Amino acid sequence: MSESSSPLISGHVMAHVYDLALKTSRVDFPVLILGETGVGKEVLARDIHANSNGRSSGNFVAVNCGAIPESLLESELFGYVKGAFTGAVGEKMGLIEMADGGTLFLDEIAEMSFHMQAELLTVIENKEYRKVGAVELKKANFRLICATNKDLIMLVQNHLFRDDLYYRVNTIEIKIPPLRERKDEIVDIVKVFLRELGYGQVSISPEVMEIFLCYSWPGNLRELKSVIESSITELDSHEQMIDIKHLPEEKFSVLSCWLIKSNDSRSLLEMEHCFRKNLIKNAMEFYGGDYKKVMSELKISKDVIYRSIKNGGGKHTSVYNAKIEISNYLQKGVYHV
Ligand SMILES: Nc1ncnc2c1ncn2[C@@H]1O[C@H](COP(=O)(O)OP(=O)(O)OP(=O)(O)O)[C@@H](O)[C@H]1O
Ligand SMILES: [Mg+2]
Repeated sequence: MSESSSPLISGHVMAHVYDLALKTSRVDFPVLILGETGVGKEVLARDIHANSNGRSSGNFVAVNCGAIPESLLESELFGYVKGAFTGAVGEKMGLIEMADGGTLFLDEIAEMSFHMQAELLTVIENKEYRKVGAVELKKANFRLICATNKDLIMLVQNHLFRDDLYYRVNTIEIKIPPLRERKDEIVDIVKVFLRELGYGQVSISPEVMEIFLCYSWPGNLRELKSVIESSITELDSHEQMIDIKHLPEEKFSVLSCWLIKSNDSRSLLEMEHCFRKNLIKNAMEFYGGDYKKVMSELKISKDVIYRSIKNGGGKHTSVYNAKIEISNYLQKGVYHV
């Protein structure tokens, strides 16, 4: 991020994000990083830390608030003194203490309980905290960066997140757009990932790149990286180019249907049929089986969905039967095309 340190500045969207992050690293206020899963919130937080003048020599301490049970989070953050509770046989350093002089990164902040939100607010406001079981206060000296993929304002409005804490943690707000809104960066990102993984000599076929540019990437950069990894694994020892056959079949079947392969002997009707079937199947997966959403997004009837799932467009059944079949399928959670 320090003008040259980020490998992924290419399109104008992320250039703006990195520019804001660079300015952010020059000050010491709390930062809230927003964005869908896998967009690179933690990567950005680490960059802000690494580029901050006063704090880069301190630790970057990342805490996943969603992964630590509430009962443990308090003692993990604050540490405890000997005898604070049964089993506290010695003194334990907390994550706040580890972040002293550095950065405390609270990931998935929306998952923090109300009780812990109140505790955190007190630490931010007073810049002091107490170890569990301790009497004396300790100075808290960390730069706070929080991240979430949730709509925090909506949680505040629904009284699921404290408004006073919300205003404290988002002095500076940085929103990282999803990959589907910055597809012009995909070509460069793929190159960076290939290099990072030690396969800089491997290239991507034009067809695969076309698929990458069409796909919606719900898992964002994390998903793209994992697709590259699994495609590399599929390469034979003499192969140096990732082609359609190396891609995870299920994920991209609908998109690869668009592309005519050299040995493809299917008629236009067959390809259209395959495309429709896969599109509906993928839409059902994408929306977690919510067929009403699929109906409205694709502007199709329940009957069409049913026929695609059931047999790819064979015998017609009544809408009523389709409804029953779809609900059976939804209950079972499995289907075969
Ligand atoms: N700027 C970047 N440079 C290199 N790799 C990146 C970058 N941004 C994201 N990635 C890749 O994407 C993966 C996911 O990034 P990260 O863990 O920062 O996402 P996240 O937004 O914190 O996701 P989640 O919401 O699931 O916690 C990283 O492990 C890394 O491989
Ligand atoms: Mg994260």
